Amino acid sequence: HAQLHLVRNLSRIQMGKHEMEPWYFSPYPQEFSDADIIYIDEFCLSYFSSRKAFERHRSKCTMLHPPGNEIYRDDSISFFEVDGRRQRTWCRNLCLLSKLFLDHKTLYYDVDPFLFYCMCTRDVHGCHLVGYFSKEKESAEGYNVACILTLPQYQRKGFGRLLIAFSYELSKREGKLGSPEKPLSDLGMLGYRANTGAKPSSSYSRTPSACRPSTSGSGANGTSTPSAAAALTEVSLNASPNQYSTSISELASLSAMTEKDVHEQLEVLKVLRYHKGQWIIVVSDALLEQRERQLEKARKKADRSRAHHVEAP
Ligand code: COA
Ligand code: NA
Repeated sequence: HAQLHLVRNLSRIQMGKHEMEPWYFSPYPQEFSDADIIYIDEFCLSYFSSRKAFERHRSKCTMLHPPGNEIYRDDSISFFEVDGRRQRTWCRNLCLLSKLFLDHKTLYYDVDPFLFYCMCTRDVHGCHLVGYFSKEKESAEGYNVACILTLPQYQRKGFGRLLIAFSYELSKREGKLGSPEKPLSDLGMLGYRANTGAKPSSSYSRTPSACRPSTSGSGANGTSTPSAAAALTEVSLNASPNQYSTSISELASLSAMTEKDVHEQLEVLKVLRYHKGQWIIVVSDALLEQRERQLEKARKKADRSRAHHVEAP
């Protein structure tokens, strides 16, 4: 039986104006495996095995955005906070959908203990789901992300970074340090690793007034610092040359990451040196410049994908 779950059961799905191919098994009802294509209502996430049934549904369905509270909005992006207990059906549908692209997380039915942070692009037609992360209402282990997903048609455009950054902003607001639930998938690992390399993108520094602590405890100029590297760069840039000092615990509280994760990210960045009997952090100008270039790239990328979404019919 266990092996059955390794089989991809749906061949194609259509959602909004996108058609995608599932990567993994998801426990949609048995009869759906026979359909050539599954139609998913992009707003209510209900699923249909025939176009006719889907269109009948569409003519009645009035939903234009995820349920729950819109907790952040900028020019083109909105975040909705959806309570698994209050919006059980919608959240179960979301889990079914996301399981198509996740091979190891197994939450489908017990959505009550979770909040779902859903990121959408807005246009005249409504709020189009781009990705989300789930978060336990009470995590004994201090996890700030359970599952995280960017829908395939939106991947590699910087949205994953935005989701991750947002998860740390929530932790900051709670005055906590957070870390994603393990194990991470390979892509999850790449996403989180990449987060070390980028300062908050312009798209993110415009973010959550709603999400940021009102007493701006976060970095310089009120910009948010969703990664250890971003926190490190801020500390460095605000100090006179060669004169800054910081600690892993300071970087942890600036980034809302656990000290363990900060340490790991610093290792990935190769900035830790053992010097005269103690560990020091060495930030070279080259690193600062490299991060400036990455930031610029992320900014352009985010602007491009936003412009695209705004113009899309
Ligand atoms: N190959 C190599 N690097 C990748 C990658 C891939 N397929 N996907 C992401 N990365 C790395 C890159 O460094 C990328 O930066 P770049 O595009 O500037 O090179 C960086 O991650 C950030 O990418 P971004 O566009 O912000 O992420 P995303 O929107 O594609 O989302 C995930 C990342 C992990 C959320 C997405 O891949 C996903 O939903 N995967 C399936 C679900 C999953 O595995 N979730 C994690 C479960 S623990
Ligand atoms: Na980042």
